[in-house]
Amino acid sequence: MDLVHTLLAIWIIASLVFQNSSNVEGRYHYHRPKSSNRGSSGSKSPVSSPDPQDPSSPTSPPSVPSDPYPNDPGNSSKNCVFDVRSYGAVGDGSNDDTEAFRQAWKEACAVESAVILAPEDHSFIITSTIFSGPCKPGLVFQVDGVLMPPEGPDSWPKADSRKQWLVFYRLDQMTFTGKGTIEGNGQKWWELPCKPHRGPNGSTLSGPCDSPALIRFFMSTNLVVSGLRILNSPQFHMKFDGCEGVLIDKLSISSPKLSPNTDGIHIENTKAVGIYNSMISNGDDCISIGPGCSNVAIEGVTCGPSHGISIGSLGVHNSQACVSNITVRNAVIKESDNGLRIKTWQVTQLLAQT
Ligand SMILES: *[C@@H]1O[C@H](CO)[C@@H](O)[C@H](O)[C@H]1NC(C)=O
Ligand SMILES: *[C@@H]1O[C@H](CO)[C@@H](O)[C@H](O)[C@H]1NC(C)=O
Ligand SMILES: *[C@@H]1O[C@H](CO)[C@@H](O)[C@H](O)[C@H]1NC(C)=O
Repeated sequence: MDLVHTLLAIWIIASLVFQNSSNVEGRYHYHRPKSSNRGSSGSKSPVSSPDPQDPSSPTSPPSVPSDPYPNDPGNSSKNCVFDVRSYGAVGDGSNDDTEAFRQAWKEACAVESAVILAPEDHSFIITSTIFSGPCKPGLVFQVDGVLMPPEGPDSWPKADSRKQWLVFYRLDQMTFTGKGTIEGNGQKWWELPCKPHRGPNGSTLSGPCDSPALIRFFMSTNLVVSGLRILNSPQFHMKFDGCEGVLIDKLSISSPKLSPNTDGIHIENTKAVGIYNSMISNGDDCISIGPGCSNVAIEGVTCGPSHGISIGSLGVHNSQACVSNITVRNAVIKESDNGLRIKTWQVTQLLAQT
């Protein structure tokens, strides 16, 4: 029953190359289906471009979903920006703007290449929400200001899930981007007495200890997440489950070194993932790769302080768990108790291919 974290050979499945290399094959494996843009609306949305202000990035910005036919005649409805303020959001850092976001989502979802905008110079608070599809392709959720959950367990609505905050569900060709900040307000969650050594005299009190993952993508395809700063999650910062085609670029994820369970990016049952040009510092795994993942490329990522990049834990209850084709290049892992590791459960047969 005991969980044994066996640290196994670092070089088995993945390779780490700590040197600059250019022109790496497989860097842009994210493909957007080309067929779905006929008759799409408006001109090319300037807001969905990757952050142009970072010329120092080691790779040039990958393309994000935007209208490849900007001059498509016959439809002149421009940009289709759904500013949450038009739906009643206040963004003063105290008003509950949940309903405005939900309404903006609902309307934007029905329009191809729409942009839901949380504008700069505003702080929006919303409660736990599942933004679900299917939506018209090309949807962009753009945070230029600050977006945050209510602060701590006491202000979390009783009826809301304590396991997640923002959930994106059943979407195809969706982009989550912006120059703004997702502030997780995690402090009070980290200090719950059920968290490791946070009880009286350094004890750990028992009891349900759910804390929300900040951003979760579930059962979705062809996703882009870029540009944002994601801070202080109560638990995992970003989680992908059951997804295919994920491009993560130029994210900055940060939480204190001692914040419990604040994994940076966690993926499971997810295929075709690229994680590029991102900085992650936190209190747990920088990137964790769970069972059922394949074709994962990590490049230009700096981790630390953190617990490094982990594959596993694989094989719970002797189950079969497959992880394949994980590549790590140009990664810097500093102030971490591990670099790259594979975690398995006890009595695990490990078959490694190189
Ligand atoms: C323009 O695009 C909008 C949104 O996609 C759509 O509702 C509308 O019917 C289109 N108009 C024309 C003339 O194609
Ligand atoms: C904490 O430890 C001190 C000294 O060992 C003891 O006097 C005190 O009762 C303990 N407090 C709790 C809540 O266990
Ligand atoms: C391994 O993954 C990369 C993307 O990271 C992909 O381009 C490549 O085709 C994959 N290789 C195999 C053998 O599936």
